[in-house]
Amino acid sequence: MLRRERPSVVATEPVGPYTLLRVERGSIDPGRPGQFFMLEAPGRLLPRPMSLALAPPGELAFLIDPIGPGTRALCSLSPGEKVGVLGPLGNGFDLRVERPLLVGGGIGVAPLPYLWEALGGPPAVLGFRTSWHAEAAELVPNAEVVLEPTYVTEAMPAGHDVLACGPEPMLHAVRRLTPHAQLAWEAPMACGYGACYGCVVELDGELKRLCVEGPVLAAA
Ligand SMILES: Cc1cc2nc3c(=O)[nH]c(=O)nc-3n(C[C@H](O)[C@H](O)[C@H](O)COP(=O)(O)OP(=O)(O)OC[C@H]3O[C@@H](n4cnc5c(N)ncnc54)[C@H](O)[C@@H]3O)c2cc1C
Ligand code: FES
Repeated sequence: MLRRERPSVVATEPVGPYTLLRVERGSIDPGRPGQFFMLEAPGRLLPRPMSLALAPPGELAFLIDPIGPGTRALCSLSPGEKVGVLGPLGNGFDLRVERPLLVGGGIGVAPLPYLWEALGGPPAVLGFRTSWHAEAAELVPNAEVVLEPTYVTEAMPAGHDVLACGPEPMLHAVRRLTPHAQLAWEAPMACGYGACYGCVVELDGELKRLCVEGPVLAAA
């Protein structure tokens, strides 16, 4: 069920260049893997969408790439500070798959630790720019890791139900290889629940709000 709360920060932990922001769960439902939360970044007008990375007992954890003012403010939070959280939002991954394979690229690994747990530890292939970025692979036990110039699509075994999250070019490449994959897309989002039309994308010739129809979409 959708809730808005202001839980306390438990910790911020570096994971390579990323930060794992752990907050108290309170009565917030962690939702389905691939769903997201709008986090209020201190000093910023608009909240920022973040996938749930992990849901340990009593906590919610988000893996954040500090690429701009909002994400940097979230990564700079201190234990005990409050942060506004709204969610869970959007459509997550469909977990009714027979031979799951998780595929992630860069900060696109963010929703995969929670998805990995929900699916009982399936195989995973994760791609990163450098070994420093690849420290995030620790959150997905036993994942196969590839570093550029090798791409994840070169390491993907055939015959699996692919669930993927990563940069747009990676998602297009995964879609070409596995037309039935489930792909988690991104778009700039202002509200996260269908009110602002800031996240509109063209799907099958129709304009759709990614926060409502997605972020997880069937590749086909
Ligand atoms: C459903 C969803 C889940 C997400 N989950 C995560 C996550 O788990 N961890 C994480 O680190 N990030 C995640 N993101 C991306 C994150 O929300 C953005 O990086 C963040 O909002 C940028 O805010 P900023 O103020 O730091 O930077 P801004 O100054 O807002 O942006 C910096 C640059 O990134 C571009 N940008 C911003 N937002 C997006 C976007 N959504 N898609 C494409 N380009 C964008 C801007 O155009 C600009 O060039 C997610 C996005 C969506 C839509
Ligand atoms: S983010 Fe406002 S409609 Fe999707």
